[in-house]
Amino acid sequence: MSQHDDKRRKLLGRLNRQLAYTAPLLALAAGGAVLHAAAGDDAAVADVASPSDASLMLASNHAEGAAEAQGEAEGDAQGEAEGEAEAEGEAEGEAEGEAEGEAEGESEGGASAAVARPEGYSPAYSETGDNPQEMLARGEELYYDTSLSSNGLACASCHGSDGQDMGYNSTFEQPFPHQVAMAANQFGMSEVHADEMVQICMVAPMAAEPLEWGSEELTSLAAYMVEVQKRVAGEPHDL
Ligand code: HEC
Repeated sequence: MSQHDDKRRKLLGRLNRQLAYTAPLLALAAGGAVLHAAAGDDAAVADVASPSDASLMLASNHAEGAAEAQGEAEGDAQGEAEGEAEAEGEAEGEAEGEAEGEAEGESEGGASAAVARPEGYSPAYSETGDNPQEMLARGEELYYDTSLSSNGLACASCHGSDGQDMGYNSTFEQPFPHQVAMAANQFGMSEVHADEMVQICMVAPMAAEPLEWGSEELTSLAAYMVEVQKRVAGEPHDL
């Protein structure tokens, strides 16, 4: 065996060991830059097929480059793995929290307990409209009131001011009660009345306690929303 062949075999052996070790890690990391390094390895192997010292040295350098990339990949992969572990920890924490919350809620009638009309309650507004003007004026006032939320928002922050209605889905074009995605997804309610929708937005986007059932605040806001609903649907309204 010539000296040349021997040298070549050693280099190839080294290259193969590095590639064999590197490839699975690269596959693991699967990042753009790292995949580039893997493509570089293929080129290095192709180089080796035409044996000249120059190309072998080139191949070897490629392999060393790949080994460095592998080091980085390993670091990244570990970093990601740790990050994931933390994220999983949080997710588990949340899941447990939710499960507990649901379990508690269930004994009182499900996640909708706080936002669904309680038994025996009858609203002090009409859901077909014709509510007193003072009630609507009070509802409008509350619609702009940031003190209702715990996060500085008012209903108008998301739903628009000066009659420029926004943030509503097409379900809002139907008179109450009707189906609302947020109510179904977050509270398991197949349809909602205007006062229930006010409570849902109080609890979820406004991050506040629900209003007291039968309070003038809830009654006024619900009456106001009945008219906003008509306005959004392009029907005659009292606003
Ligand atoms: C952070 C944004 C945000 C705030 C603040 C907010 N809402 Fe909403 N609201 C939404 C979103 C999002 C929807 C759409 C829900 C859906 O259709 O699934 C919605 C939908 C509604 C609907 C219509 C749902 C329907 O189709 O019938 C009403 C009524 C409503 N909100 C009232 C209020 C009231 C009253 C307040 C203040 C007490 C308020 N919202 C505050 C985000 C908000």
